[in-house]
Amino acid sequence: MKVLNVFGTRPQYIKLFPVCRVLKKNRHENVLVDTGQHYDETLSGVFLDELDIPAVDYDLDVRSGSHGAQTGRMLAAIEGIIDEEEPDAVIVYGDTNSTLAAAIATAKLSPTLAHVESGTRSYNRRMPEELNRIMTDHISDLLYAPIDRAIENLEREGITEGVVLTGDVMFDAIQWAREYVTETNGGVLDELPVDPGEFVLTTVHRPRNTDDGERLRTILETLDEHPLPVVFPAHPRVRNRIEALGLDERLSEDFHLIEPVGYLDFVRLLAGAERVATDSGGAQKEAFMLETPCVTLREETEWDGTVESGWNRLVGADRELIREALSENGDRPPQPDIFGDGRAAERIVGAIEDG
Ligand code: UD1
Ligand code: UDP
Repeated sequence: MKVLNVFGTRPQYIKLFPVCRVLKKNRHENVLVDTGQHYDETLSGVFLDELDIPAVDYDLDVRSGSHGAQTGRMLAAIEGIIDEEEPDAVIVYGDTNSTLAAAIATAKLSPTLAHVESGTRSYNRRMPEELNRIMTDHISDLLYAPIDRAIENLEREGITEGVVLTGDVMFDAIQWAREYVTETNGGVLDELPVDPGEFVLTTVHRPRNTDDGERLRTILETLDEHPLPVVFPAHPRVRNRIEALGLDERLSEDFHLIEPVGYLDFVRLLAGAERVATDSGGAQKEAFMLETPCVTLREETEWDGTVESGWNRLVGADRELIREALSENGDRPPQPDIFGDGRAAERIVGAIEDG
């Protein structure tokens, strides 16, 4: 079987690598297409090395741009690659512009279009990701649902054919990372002036929180007021905004604004944090998987199960809600099994093999 994988942003390297391992184990041909949507070393190259992803076959180097221009450049290039490679299937991941571009290119040609992380919904159509998910799901042949609720969401939109419950491939990834991240292996934690269990880890990169300066200022100020130190590996999108608005100059010494870190270091930070405050989709799930309470800096989430279980709180950019959620203590309820058994990648490849 010949499979083409398309990816190009940080979370997609992480969703990709468990699938690459299974493709290799089952001796399938794996053609890798990196759109280059993310191009800074800290958002892309670092993962290729660390996660042992095989050499990329096509590097499209599309870089940043408006949604239409960026998606269009990818679409044209991917179409040419599919024509040339004639794969049996194309796998796309998540909800980025790279996902949508590859989906459109594939759906009009003959390979099977397989969508990893299908059926998740925030029900907020102002998010570009929500539109990317909906459009991709409606043209996919194989829809890999990470959680039960994704299947219900798809049913509500009339999609029942080709849906496969796989579990979450990010759970596969974190099982692997856990083996490397031990107490004797401090990584980034050795370089920061914070103690395990006594800092808040934060990430912010959604346009809603970065483009709106007032929201961004409220989030940073409220985190900084909290008694524990804060570690913030900042995506370039938010770092640019923080600097442009001069917010960095107002942060205390206990607020550690650092470069984005590699996956293993991020897992170390997630596991070591007293709490996570984030607007990332992936980090919400990973916090849950590592049993670190999460405060989500959004009004809604695709991962309702983490909220319903008591391990995640939705606070938006509301100062009072952020304060309360950061200080909330007490025993957490036992975690329900939401994200599967760590064998999502096997099911993803298996469904194509069964084709
Ligand atoms: C993208 C995804 C988002 C995902 C995120 C993961 C879309 C619509 N958004 O958001 O779903 O959560 O990736 O991190 O696909 N930039 C750099 N260096 C880079 C890449 C980006 O400096 O390597 C800066 C540029 O100023 C760029 C901005 O970040 O304009 C936004 O990049 P873009 O890829 O459009 O979206 P993300 O915010 O990264
Ligand atoms: N991540 C990382 N280093 C960082 C921040 C995040 O490796 O400095 C990883 C994190 O473990 C998760 C993924 O990046 O797997 C999440 O990416 P991001 O928050 O950019 O995107 P989203 O999940 O919101 O689409």
